Amino acid sequence: MERHIQIFLNKLSLAAITIATLTLLLLYLQTPETCVDQSDPDPKPHARFPRSTCDFTHRSYISLDKRNRRIWSTNAWVRAVSSYTSLFKTLQGQNHISNHSRVLIVSAGPGHAVMALNDLGVSDVTGVELVDSPPLVSRADPHNLPFFDGVFDFGFSGYLDRALFPGRYVGEMERTVRSGGVCVVAVEECGTREVEDVVKLFKRSKFVNAKNVTLAGEMMTRIVMRVTNHP
Ligand SMILES: *[C@@H]1O[C@H](CO)[C@@H](O)[C@H](O)[C@H]1NC(C)=O
Ligand SMILES: *[C@@H]1O[C@H](CO)[C@@H](O)[C@H](O)[C@H]1NC(C)=O
Repeated sequence: MERHIQIFLNKLSLAAITIATLTLLLLYLQTPETCVDQSDPDPKPHARFPRSTCDFTHRSYISLDKRNRRIWSTNAWVRAVSSYTSLFKTLQGQNHISNHSRVLIVSAGPGHAVMALNDLGVSDVTGVELVDSPPLVSRADPHNLPFFDGVFDFGFSGYLDRALFPGRYVGEMERTVRSGGVCVVAVEECGTREVEDVVKLFKRSKFVNAKNVTLAGEMMTRIVMRVTNHP
């Protein structure tokens, strides 16, 4: 009887050792969560952060390129870009943007506005958003822009009305656009009263004009402000 139990216990510990070894091996071989397959057609945005040492730029670049080409060829993308193209063409016509302008797009989303400007021949365009979309848009907090004062000639945002702190958001646009430069914001379509409220957010700019436009399928009012840097 004793011997029988001894054999049983031996078998039991052998099984335990085997399970433990297999578990260790599995943990060792398992890909860390941050090493997601970049060719995944529908990658979860959160899985891209944080970057780890296993996130090779080389590998991600190739599949990112493929992924971008797929997104950029959709009808929704092309339509949205073309609505930004007509908006910026108008502003070019009013001499607010030239091919040599240094442009900042705040809350650039996936980069429609950046692409529209690039297509128009404006090459120095910086797009920022809370989540980056390389190569068009980098990651930055609109309320705390990582740029020196007055480094841009032209600032644009189509999402001022989604800002957590509109005053601070506008203040950062005014700070980074040079004196004499232009800030343009598009907000949900509104009347004169609301336009005045938006204009009041700008502490160092003068109102130039406002116009109702359609942007990415939405009726919006775009407001042009000239930065003066005199509060
Ligand atoms: C701006 O660049 C575009 C594309 O490169 C070009 O077609 C256009 O003529 C340029 N405009 C000016 C004013 O140089
Ligand atoms: C934009 O449209 C609204 C009505 O939706 C109107 O009250 C407002 O005057 C228009 N603004 C401009 C600048 O045309």
